[in-house]
Amino acid sequence: MPELEAILLVGGQGTRLRPLTLGTPKPLLPTAGVPFLAHQLAQARAAGVRRIVFATSYRAEMFREAFGDGSRFGLTLEYMTEETPLGTGGAIRNAAEALTCGPDAPVVVLNGDILSGHDIADQVAWHVGRGAAVTLHLTEVDDPSRFGCVPTDDEGRVTAFLEKTPNPVTNRINAGCYVFTRSVIDSIPEGEVVSVERETFPGLIEAGALVLGYADASYWLDVGTPAAFVKGSRDLVLGRLASPALPGPAGDLLALPGAVISPEAKVAEGATVGARAVVEAGAKVTGSVLGDDCVIEAGAIVADSVVGTGARVASGAVLRDAVIGDGAVIGPGNELLAGSRVWPGVVLPECAVRFSSDV
Ligand code: GTP
Repeated sequence: MPELEAILLVGGQGTRLRPLTLGTPKPLLPTAGVPFLAHQLAQARAAGVRRIVFATSYRAEMFREAFGDGSRFGLTLEYMTEETPLGTGGAIRNAAEALTCGPDAPVVVLNGDILSGHDIADQVAWHVGRGAAVTLHLTEVDDPSRFGCVPTDDEGRVTAFLEKTPNPVTNRINAGCYVFTRSVIDSIPEGEVVSVERETFPGLIEAGALVLGYADASYWLDVGTPAAFVKGSRDLVLGRLASPALPGPAGDLLALPGAVISPEAKVAEGATVGARAVVEAGAKVTGSVLGDDCVIEAGAIVADSVVGTGARVASGAVLRDAVIGDGAVIGPGNELLAGSRVWPGVVLPECAVRFSSDV
């Protein structure tokens, strides 16, 4: 049996995660202590994948710097870069030039911003056993309107692919992990902008090709928004999704080397404290991601937020659901709530932003 190969889609700009993604692509953001992709690479390897082609575009060079030839991860990694982004389908077609498998072999394709506990090896076996053209991992969500809605018949055959429809016919959605038969990838037009969600999948279904759904109820999360990104990191630290890449045992918090946490501070609920970061006495950090070298001063409260590398949160400041860019300073007494974003290097003076429900 030849080595199982995969394509990892990592060329997106990650606009919904700005300002975190201004300098770092979404798949490289530190998540539970390691670049997000490290969790996906470890999981793919555990499922039997041995060779992965990265489909890069935005800040392409940073991926090779982070992962090299892959030997550290027990993988062979290749990099294929689009000069201009070709969309998901165009990217898969472009990356396929670096595959070594034959036309009938299964190829795993992963979106680079998904945390999933599903059994990739079983999805591949299901695909091969049924002789499908493509097999889509499906999961159920409460609000399917933001995703690709994917109805199936009793035998698991996909009957339609409805991308971001206001009237979803099912709660089952495209979970962003596909198994393609190699020859199907080769039939995507070369060098053109193509969306698998809007063109390839609906086209295959229309043409009568066997497109299967692989539905399961394991852990699944799209980390495209700040709130989801924080949740993903927290769930990995807490062990709600087991990851071979977690740098330490699962638990209430993850402290990276050199982190200094006062015994009088509270750090809990799956928070990560970056390398050499400081959390002073009386500070309370819950469910958040603190970057390397940041400082949370005495008595500050940081809940469900991301604090960038080298940022400082002063005494008495309160962050909930906020994103603080690298090197920013949040002065004393500020209250940043519900989706606030502070750009890198910005200095907020004392009490510049307050929240009050009674004015
Ligand atoms: P937003 O801008 O916040 O929507 O994020 P995104 O740019 O990552 O887009 P989206 O979440 O829709 O993309 C799904 C996956 O496909 C992500 O892993 C992206 O990195 C990847 N992706 C999207 N467009 C392209 C592309 O044109 N080329 C490549 N190589 N990858 C892409």
